[in-house]
Amino acid sequence: MEIGDRRLKIGELDGPRPIRREELAASGRLAGLCFPDAAGVMEEIRTYTPPRRGGIQVICHRGVPVSQIGVYHSRVSVYGSLLRVASIGGVCTHPDYRGLGLATRLLDYCTRKLTAEGARLMLISGMRGLYTRAGCVTAQKFEYIVLKPGQLRPGVDDLSLRPATEADAPLCDRLYQTEPVHFARRVEEFAAHFRRPEEFTKAEDWIIEATGRPVAYLFTGLPWEYGGESGADAREVIEYAGSRVALVGALTEVMARLNLRELRLAVPWQDVDLLHLLHERGVTGDHIPLVGHTMRIVNFPGLMRDLRPYVRARLTRSQRRGLRFQQEGDRYAIVRGEERLELDGATMTRLVMGVPAEVAHEAPVASGALGEIIAALFPLPSFLPGLNYR
Ligand SMILES: CC(C)(COP(=O)(O)OP(=O)(O)OC[C@H]1O[C@@H](n2cnc3c(N)ncnc32)[C@H](O)[C@@H]1OP(=O)(O)O)[C@@H](O)C(=O)NCCC(=O)NCCS
Repeated sequence: MEIGDRRLKIGELDGPRPIRREELAASGRLAGLCFPDAAGVMEEIRTYTPPRRGGIQVICHRGVPVSQIGVYHSRVSVYGSLLRVASIGGVCTHPDYRGLGLATRLLDYCTRKLTAEGARLMLISGMRGLYTRAGCVTAQKFEYIVLKPGQLRPGVDDLSLRPATEADAPLCDRLYQTEPVHFARRVEEFAAHFRRPEEFTKAEDWIIEATGRPVAYLFTGLPWEYGGESGADAREVIEYAGSRVALVGALTEVMARLNLRELRLAVPWQDVDLLHLLHERGVTGDHIPLVGHTMRIVNFPGLMRDLRPYVRARLTRSQRRGLRFQQEGDRYAIVRGEERLELDGATMTRLVMGVPAEVAHEAPVASGALGEIIAALFPLPSFLPGLNYR
């Protein structure tokens, strides 16, 4: 391997391995160098305490991290079933060490580690070749709406909007918990978000009240491609929860208050109420996968075990009899008796998590009884990472 005019011997590299406390300052400097616009990444490293599972993984050269990846375990409640997810973020390699395969090695190590630690789905905040070569794909189904001024008429009476503060953390937590699909979160995570305004650039958080009672919240931020451009008159919705009628009213109000040229919103396909209210008002969008992300199911049998209550609610006892979900290497299979649908990991990930027809052809779904079972289970509902963005 060559670094500038020096030769790098594999033996000089230390890792991949979890970061050590004494390496945190250098890790923060590496993140600052690689993500100059993302103050949140550095802040996260400054306040880092090694978690029980996951955490920052590094490759070091001469005692200094030169490539690093953050692994963050979480769970998503899918109509009450808890699905174990590991998010990958903060992927970076020092400019002098790029193109040597360090990020590839580290990602491979992290994938094996997070799988061994119990994750079923790996979610990466990025779409580059580094991730697609590791079998990750764009997936999930959203309608991406770009609202322009005057497009939505204000039509909700007695609606008011106020900026959210740390005192609203319990309220936001309650509203979030009522969502049919949501990350398992503690109220402290909302409080921490309100205390860290730099987490999302130009983040504005709103509480929506109807006849004086809080009924929804809307968190917005600067779309990522604006980088540190603070004056930009565009925002995207990072996360929302609560009354859909109130939310539609609030979108117009937020645009007017911030004098926005556009407000972007990715609505999961199963959020039919919000989509209906928008369509009814003549607002439609494009069908896209989860913005800026790739993903891969890393443990298919485990994922389906996590979703057991979901499966039990959707299939009859006789449909469930003999139903198996298997994975061996990159061959993923759904089996029932003589019937078998076998796909590679990327195609199975898209079948299970969904993907808009505009992006990829549907997987060759089995016909007959197995076909009916697959149609009853998949795609799973989609979800915005929101405050769990990494
Ligand atoms: C993306 C990044 C982490 C890759 O790290 P790396 O250790 O060089 O990666 P590897 O050598 O294992 O993988 C090959 C990647 O390096 C690129 N590469 C190859 N030779 C290179 C060189 N001489 N210089 C820079 N990049 C090179 C490849 O194109 C490939 O990138 P791809 O994902 O676009 O296909 C690194 O470029 C980086 O830190 N970029 C800035 C931060 C960033 O954008 N992170 C990703 C967020 S999604």
